[in-house]
Amino acid sequence: MQSQCHADAPVGRWHKKCPLDVWEILEDTGATSSEIQGRIRQLTAMRRPSTSTRILATGLGILIASVLHYLTPHSQLLLHNLFQKLYYLPIVYAALAFGGRGGLAAAVVSTICYIPHILGWRHDPEYAMSQYAELILFFLVGVITGALADQGRKRREELEAATTKLEKVYRELQDSFEQIKRADRLSAVGQLAASLAHEIRNPLGSIEGAANLIQSPATSAEIREGSLNIIRKECQRLNRLLTNLLDFARPRQPEFRSVDLVRLVDSIFTLVGPNAQQQHVKLMKIVRKAPRLLESDPEQLKQVLLNLVINGIQATPDGGEIEVVVDAEDAGVFIAVRDQGIGIPPEDLERIFDPFFTTKESGTGLGLSVAHRVITHLGGSIKAERNPDRGMTFSLSLPIPPRSKQ
Ligand SMILES: Nc1ncnc2c1ncn2[C@@H]1O[C@H](COP(=O)(O)OP(=O)(O)OP(=O)(O)O)[C@@H](O)[C@H]1O
Ligand SMILES: [Mg+2]
Repeated sequence: MQSQCHADAPVGRWHKKCPLDVWEILEDTGATSSEIQGRIRQLTAMRRPSTSTRILATGLGILIASVLHYLTPHSQLLLHNLFQKLYYLPIVYAALAFGGRGGLAAAVVSTICYIPHILGWRHDPEYAMSQYAELILFFLVGVITGALADQGRKRREELEAATTKLEKVYRELQDSFEQIKRADRLSAVGQLAASLAHEIRNPLGSIEGAANLIQSPATSAEIREGSLNIIRKECQRLNRLLTNLLDFARPRQPEFRSVDLVRLVDSIFTLVGPNAQQQHVKLMKIVRKAPRLLESDPEQLKQVLLNLVINGIQATPDGGEIEVVVDAEDAGVFIAVRDQGIGIPPEDLERIFDPFFTTKESGTGLGLSVAHRVITHLGGSIKAERNPDRGMTFSLSLPIPPRSKQ
């Protein structure tokens, strides 16, 4: 990295002053200009001294070793020998800074500086030989250290390249993931809109037909009255559809309070009692093990149970029974609504929690999807099972204390 990469320079200047390959590598990762600047700032902080500084440091090291070596008399043998070994420092430094070639060059320069000293000892061939051996060591240390440094540098560069590539792949993966999520959301919105249009078109058609009948002078008073009833009924249906749709699309945050489940079931029976009586369906409450007070949202829980019991009543023929079972579980409570109705065919089972899935003429198909969403928000779970003999059982598991999901 060049030292000209100034941290405070504006983007244009950054681009000009930083080596182009570095800029391009970083740009390749999909980073924005400010991210590239940040990365370059990091790299700049870790930058090594420039080539000329490193050459100068090596030369200075050899010069200092030579001066100290030559100027220390042999009478101070310990110091003299110590300074003689000082040559290894610039050699090792050059090998680390420039690799094998740097180590070799430093060994050559050190040897040139050292030889005059050996020549002065010709009169003692044995000492001169040991000095020559030292020179060989200069070369060995320079070349081996340099080769190791080269290897380390190569590995670091490979690692850096792999990291850059990984970062790029990671960014691409993230982008693809975001695109898939967006596409998924769009397709869900599209499906919802299509189903909603279908659900609204039916009652609108009925209302228009009834209005035409009312307008026609040939229509009898009786048919007129019937048409008005149709309009009233379809308006109610549309209203219910919108209420359910809002519950589904914008579920309100649960307000947790203590809930007495047994009393909650009683209040639901009071609400649906007349309806059940009309259809000759018997409502039964079975408390297997009285649960502790549950921390939950009583209104939302009531809405869910009401939906399940009404579904049960609608499916159960005259004379049938609906059981609501309350039980205590290890970590929470268990509620089941069991009916003796027509049941749900296996092929429909996986669609019943989908919005707008209905087999009823006047149904919105949102009751179970709202129930599913509410129970999940309350931290619980809901499941539907076909009874072995006839009818369905819808079971809820709710935790104590609540595990509310956002
Ligand atoms: N207890 C049940 N027995 C048989 N079928 C059921 C039962 N509960 C639900 N279903 C089936 O699941 C479908 C979806 O139920 P859901 O409560 O979501 O909507 P719906 O009852 O059709 O409409 P709405 O709830 O608006 O009246 C129903 O139309 C019905 O086919
Ligand atoms: Mg329903």
